[in-house]
Amino acid sequence: MTQPLQDRVALVTGASSGIGRHFAVTLAKAGAKVAVAARRTDRLESLVAEIAAFDGHALPVPLDVTDPDSVAEAVRVVEVELGAIGVLVNNAGLVQAKPALEIDEADWELVVGTNLTGAWRVAREVARHMTRMGHGGSIINMASILGEGVTNQLSSYAISKAGVVQMTRALALELARYNIRVNAMAPGYIATELNRDYFETDAGKALIRKIPQRRLGQPEDLDGTLLLLAGDGSAFMTGSVITVDGGHTLAIA
Ligand code: NAI
Repeated sequence: MTQPLQDRVALVTGASSGIGRHFAVTLAKAGAKVAVAARRTDRLESLVAEIAAFDGHALPVPLDVTDPDSVAEAVRVVEVELGAIGVLVNNAGLVQAKPALEIDEADWELVVGTNLTGAWRVAREVARHMTRMGHGGSIINMASILGEGVTNQLSSYAISKAGVVQMTRALALELARYNIRVNAMAPGYIATELNRDYFETDAGKALIRKIPQRRLGQPEDLDGTLLLLAGDGSAFMTGSVITVDGGHTLAIA
């Protein structure tokens, strides 16, 4: 049986952990040839083995989204090794919790430089590649519910994700003529190794009680949106931002 993303080439940034790692497996199971990109490719060995175990195809690629040369080289390597990129999952990102008044220039550059400038840089490079190859494609940006709402101590993160939302819309508008679709998903709190400890604390448990579905999301909860946006089922969607948050952003208080 032909799989939904049969032989499509997908590039996933920040694939060595958490949601990016999970997405790489999901895309490979859907038939895609997946370039798994991370700063340290030794951290990708177990992921590549996991994908090979079900006869999937994964290519480890070194990538630091804050380095323009690294981004250009990663896209070049994927083009040479796997061919035309059809799907970009712009997932690499990080969080830094700090009171707004304590954020210094280096803190700001780390968060905004990775989450917003880094995502823009990868999107631009892949979009240039897609137009050069003349085939179009789908760019999926990882925003967050904090791209819309705000919370304490995460101002740089929220600002960067708001930028990702607006970048999604601006690029969607300009790239439609090249048959490139640009959409985003805005997850609520998803359990990954990064936040697992926090959600074991009293404050973390209290936060979970505020989510209408009374649970954290799991990376698998994002699969439906990922496969929709990556595949042809979303052919007429561009500039959309899809919230996946168990209802977290519904309530005013
Ligand atoms: P994570 O920390 O497990 O994954 C982020 C990945 O990005 C890591 O592998 C990290 O090494 C990589 N990365 C960071 N800086 C990089 C750089 N300069 N170059 C290349 N890779 C770099 O976190 P998680 O939870 O899997 O997050 C993935 C994405 O989803 C992020 O963009 C995050 O903001 C977003 N997100 C996560 C939510 C959550 O609750 N876990 C909720 C909403 C959005």
